[in-house]
Amino acid sequence: MKLLLLGSGGREHALAWKIAQSQKIEKLYIAPGNAGTANVGENVPLKADDFVGIKDFVLSHGVDMVVVGPEDPLVKGVYDFFKQDEQLKDVPVIGPSKAGAVLEGSKDFAKSFMQRHGIPTAAYRSFTSANIADGIAFLETLQPPYVLKADGLCAGKGVLILPTLEEAKAEFRGMLDGMFGDASATVVVEEFLSGIECSVFVLTDGKNYKILPEAKDYKRIGEGDTGLNTGGMGSVSPVPFADAEWMKKVEERIVKPTVEGLSADEIDYKGFIFFGLIKVDRDYAYAKAGDPVVIEYNVRMGDPETETVMLRIKSDLVDLLEGVAEGNLNTRTLEFDPRSAVCVMMVSGGYPQEYKKGFPITGIDKVEGSVVFHAGTAEKDDEIVTAGGRVIAVSSYGDTQNEALVKSFTEADKINFEGKYFRRDIGKDLLNLSC
Ligand code: AMP
Ligand code: GLY
Repeated sequence: MKLLLLGSGGREHALAWKIAQSQKIEKLYIAPGNAGTANVGENVPLKADDFVGIKDFVLSHGVDMVVVGPEDPLVKGVYDFFKQDEQLKDVPVIGPSKAGAVLEGSKDFAKSFMQRHGIPTAAYRSFTSANIADGIAFLETLQPPYVLKADGLCAGKGVLILPTLEEAKAEFRGMLDGMFGDASATVVVEEFLSGIECSVFVLTDGKNYKILPEAKDYKRIGEGDTGLNTGGMGSVSPVPFADAEWMKKVEERIVKPTVEGLSADEIDYKGFIFFGLIKVDRDYAYAKAGDPVVIEYNVRMGDPETETVMLRIKSDLVDLLEGVAEGNLNTRTLEFDPRSAVCVMMVSGGYPQEYKKGFPITGIDKVEGSVVFHAGTAEKDDEIVTAGGRVIAVSSYGDTQNEALVKSFTEADKINFEGKYFRRDIGKDLLNLSC
């Protein structure tokens, strides 16, 4: 099969790495890809949301399947574009329809979907500039800290957690006043959930589903989870507290009602669902201490979770994707690799604030036994140079999580570029956690 993968980050390199291992793959294209994806397939100079360009490419190169990495093309309706085009309608697109992508594109929609289908999530209300006073009154009924969410996509920046009511009220007004442009014309105000987070991934054909290996990501720039939020500084899989009993609750209370809810709402969804979950550490009206609660949905794989999840899928991913396309995912096999996998993200000095690009990266060829996924890299005059904030993910296996961590830190030490930084405490919070 000829497969076209859309996207260009570490997530896409990890997907491409796994897809390229399939016996079923005759040719893998990545649009636009990065310096790393060029090692496992052929990069195509097309933006992931250039639907007309993608159409021409698919038709002229006989592409049999399109896999969508990031949310942006999905929210813009790449699935529907294919289905509505006479020449493209039989080419499967792995990713939800535009209506399905709203689960990520609108927090207000996601919350009402969860309420409608009885899926545990934080108590909330949504407000616009038409009912600011109601919003202020609702904030006054909540306990600190206060959680405010811009309804629309904000490149991961649209969630504010405020320690005091005064700050919450001020930010609430600011959001409705256009702090995030149109994305915060509606603001979701919700109850703060206290606990520990876990990312669960599901592949669905709209009726059947498979739960992929779970992972935990580390979002803050500083060790001990301090400092600014980033696109992700590392991840681990498995997550020790996500044991069989907990995952059974996740499946029964969250995964099944979500897949059934999509079908009941007649939303066409053939792709990945990312459940951002929290294991709450106290009782709430909708969950007991220790239970899983949904913080958010994403309609794609996570980054940097994919850089560990792909290592832990033993089965042929393309066989599973075919099952999605053909609506018979239940007949496909998903086996996990029992080993631990961890990913350590190497970032540019200054990130997530200002940083410079274009520094040569050395030492990638010295890495042994780990997998190097490129996130923000580029090729310049036969050299690999930094081209983003998050530069390279070093992913490793280990018989234990600690072994995998030590391996990733050792190999990351071999890679150099000016200003390089990575967190040396990825996964450490889980090592001493009593579950
Ligand atoms: P989201 O964009 O919805 O994933 O939110 C970004 C991050 O904010 C999450 O990964 C959580 O760490 C945090 N967060 C969001 N909602 C809540 C909540 N209700 N309670 C506690 N933390 C939250
Ligand atoms: N790792 C979180 C995300 O991909 O949104």
